[in-house]
Amino acid sequence: MERALKPTAKTRALRVRAYAKINLGLEVLGVRADGYHELRTLFQTIDLHDDILIQPRARGLVVRCDDPAVPGDERNLALRAALELQRYAGIERGAEIAITKRIPVGGGLAGGSSDAAAVLMALDRLWGAGLGPAGLHPLARRLGADVPFFLVGGTALGLGRGDEVYPLHRQVRCHAIVIDLQRPVSTSAVFARVDRNLTPHENSNNIFRFVSSDLEGLRAFRILSNELEQAAMEEAPDLVDRAQRIRGILNREGATLASLSGSGSSFFGLFDDGRKAQGAQSALMAAGFIVLRARTVSLGQYRRIWAGSLGRMRARGVGNQSRSRHHGDHGRQGHSRRGRKAKSLRVDRV
Ligand code: C5P
Repeated sequence: MERALKPTAKTRALRVRAYAKINLGLEVLGVRADGYHELRTLFQTIDLHDDILIQPRARGLVVRCDDPAVPGDERNLALRAALELQRYAGIERGAEIAITKRIPVGGGLAGGSSDAAAVLMALDRLWGAGLGPAGLHPLARRLGADVPFFLVGGTALGLGRGDEVYPLHRQVRCHAIVIDLQRPVSTSAVFARVDRNLTPHENSNNIFRFVSSDLEGLRAFRILSNELEQAAMEEAPDLVDRAQRIRGILNREGATLASLSGSGSSFFGLFDDGRKAQGAQSALMAAGFIVLRARTVSLGQYRRIWAGSLGRMRARGVGNQSRSRHHGDHGRQGHSRRGRKAKSLRVDRV
């Protein structure tokens, strides 16, 4: 694996962003016949992102990543995505995929799944397969349960294994902070623990109540929770104490929602106001935590960003997009050309 990610040629290439997700809520409804779990979850893209540079090659697929923790072989989901598309669309051409990692690995933020979806969408365009998000869905769900969501983005309901994705009519817009505990947690191990704890219980229907409420008030967020948290804490007991401290600080600093994302280990807080998010970030950093600032990316923003990235390929080559100094964009891309700020936690129509 190489660490240098400089483009090798000024040729037709694509530079795209693979955004992280958080789960605003997650309910485990039961075990399925295929061993997976039936879920009801609320996905949300945030502007914390990996950068992916994809350059065409006559033959062969190569993937490189600046993070040594990410494998460069077929364990890499981005490489598997490219192979799937080659096979599915009968394409012989190749590509070189260079990933600059910003999304914590093994943190429940689905960075690997997002990279895979981004590669599908970019290569679909680069190779001229013309499948589009709907045509790519069967490939995406074969790659992993979280991958299809990134063909859609924004605020969306995930059903089935999480791979049946329904964009919500109303989109959440707010500030977020993500606490990177630098402690990868295995998703399959967490789900295996869920099985041991899974006792028949009344379906809480809180996600349904959240979605069907008008969502205008902040109180609606309080009914959301992540039912993987208990199993995640059993899988990683060293995190229990930190989780309590994080939640205490987030709540004290006025978070609208404080939760674990997916199977962990990242926690996040949502805020209706940038100053509150800043206050929480400072308090958590003073307590020794690594904190990333972000904003939610709505469905409309996600679509515009992708349309821009894929459209740019025709207009120009590599090398003219500045790199963000931040982990997230803080609204500079995709957050309205009119410079609208997420001053309050809002839920917008798509
Ligand atoms: O689909 P993906 O490979 O991302 O899932 C990782 C693991 O998480 C699966 O192997 C499975 O053990 C577990 N999982 C599950 N039910 C889901 C999603 C994931 O049991 N709905």
